[in-house]
Amino acid sequence: MKTNLSLDLSKTLGMANLEAIRPFAPFAEEALRAVREKSGLGNDYLGWVDLPEAYDATEFRRIGEAAARIQAMADALVVIGIGGSYLGSRSAIDLLGPAFRNELSSSKRSGVRIYYLGHTMSADYVSDFLDVIEGQDICVNVISKSGTTTEPAVAFRMMKAYLEEKYGKEGACERIFATTDADKGALKGLAQKEGYEQFVVPSDVGGRYSVLTAVGLLPMACAGIPIDQVMAGAKAARAHYLSAPFAENPVLQYACARNALARSGKEVELLVSYELRFQYFQEWWKQLYGESEGKDGRGIFPASVIFSTDLHSMGQYIQDGRRMLFETVLRVQKPQRDVKILKDPANLDGLNFLAEKSLHEVNDYAFQGTVIAHNDGGVPNLILQLPQITPEGYGELVYFFELACAVSGYLLGVNPFNQPGVEAYKKNMFALLGKPGYEELAQRLKEKLN
Ligand code: PA5
Repeated sequence: MKTNLSLDLSKTLGMANLEAIRPFAPFAEEALRAVREKSGLGNDYLGWVDLPEAYDATEFRRIGEAAARIQAMADALVVIGIGGSYLGSRSAIDLLGPAFRNELSSSKRSGVRIYYLGHTMSADYVSDFLDVIEGQDICVNVISKSGTTTEPAVAFRMMKAYLEEKYGKEGACERIFATTDADKGALKGLAQKEGYEQFVVPSDVGGRYSVLTAVGLLPMACAGIPIDQVMAGAKAARAHYLSAPFAENPVLQYACARNALARSGKEVELLVSYELRFQYFQEWWKQLYGESEGKDGRGIFPASVIFSTDLHSMGQYIQDGRRMLFETVLRVQKPQRDVKILKDPANLDGLNFLAEKSLHEVNDYAFQGTVIAHNDGGVPNLILQLPQITPEGYGELVYFFELACAVSGYLLGVNPFNQPGVEAYKKNMFALLGKPGYEELAQRLKEKLN
């Protein structure tokens, strides 16, 4: 299989075209070598690099079997996880569609309904969720690499009691699937004691790089996504992007272009799409880049918008506000389905000039017009072209951005695989909630709060 993504640097206002980024090339190729040979910073978290080739075949088969069982016994799967433990699967399930999958009848949708829990402590969200699952047969996939994260642990405590009440202890056990570390953590201990089926988050794969492990693959399979095709796309990406030289490697070019732009003062990157179904892919991307690069006072700030929707809310700022932005635009060449705009004999809205055009065609003209307008406003655009949204294409896109993130992080001079900053809020929250061992910090925080 060949790769399908292509990167167009011609709309970067000369700040990040091939010529402008060539000085970065030797450093990017060196960074790529460090990733390939696992010799750079954070090299004990590079397990994701080889997943498409080296994924444990037994675990992969068990994922398919568990998904088939879940589909047979449930109307819905509840995915419990936060950050890297849910954004990957949600990105895939939303992107590969259909858009309103939970509302469709089972004959019109492949796989079960998917709900997400454990990514929020909003009491209203959780209460509304409990209303919506009433009367549905459900299974739960609780996902936490550390096994100790508060949000999913609180959600799982609730769902465990709910399932045991509804199906009895043994019935609940059949419906709970735990994805966690192979050896340690509270969830591992709990799963072991209760006898839940378990899947592994490999110890050398960090949360935000874990979508191509059971973390992402089990929910995807339950949603009817052919995960072998997702892995095939990632495999093709790995084969090409991990070794291709700068001139033929859009991963290296993208990593260099965003660093060149940041050094010219464009320190905010907007990931832009023209498809609503990219929303959670963009959330996944923001976590990947934000958590990987935002440290030591450095990092390009990752943000996202969906056009043309957000042109009516954020368009003014992008066109005319502070000039610290660049855009990376995801351009899908062919939609999965299209809609024709009708001719109206009365033409009261004056839109007959659009009659007989397809909606996708109009969307693409919106893209073309916007790129030029934003260029005129001083916003460089990197354009990443995808022929179509497919499971293989999703796998390639994931691998593309993961690898580019690693290379880009090394170019920035940070360790792209740790996240020391995420701990700060947790410690304060535990102290304020009175967790044993946090008394001294609690005292200091109370003084600050008063
Ligand atoms: O990328 C990361 O490491 C984090 O976003 C984690 O995925 C997130 O905090 C959830 O952690 P865990 O899977 O340990 O519950």
